[in-house]
Amino acid sequence: MSTDTATDVAFTPVGSVSDLTRGEGRAYAVGGVQIAVFLLGDGTVRATAAVCPHRGGPIADGQSDDTKVMCPLHQYAYAFADGSCNDPAIGTLAVYPSRVVDGTIEVAVGT
Ligand code: FES
Repeated sequence: MSTDTATDVAFTPVGSVSDLTRGEGRAYAVGGVQIAVFLLGDGTVRATAAVCPHRGGPIADGQSDDTKVMCPLHQYAYAFADGSCNDPAIGTLAVYPSRVVDGTIEVAVGT
């Protein structure tokens, strides 16, 4: 684990960015938290909760683009920017700070 001194956020390495494919999520467990990680077109990553707040769908199995992921069960879409859903009644998907350092995905789940 490393700490970003500018933000005081603790990042944990979760895997290699080379394991990711753009448009497809990948699930990881970090500190007992199930997360889904997505590769964007610019080589950055986004990390969200792995479980859909609607009815528990597997977010990592959803289709994604550079701005959002769509849950595979009922196709609600969640923005990477803030986890907001295209139907506000559904709720918000947790999003976590993430980065790539020397090819390694790092995520901060404790924030
Ligand atoms: S379980 Fe994800 S949209 Fe319904």
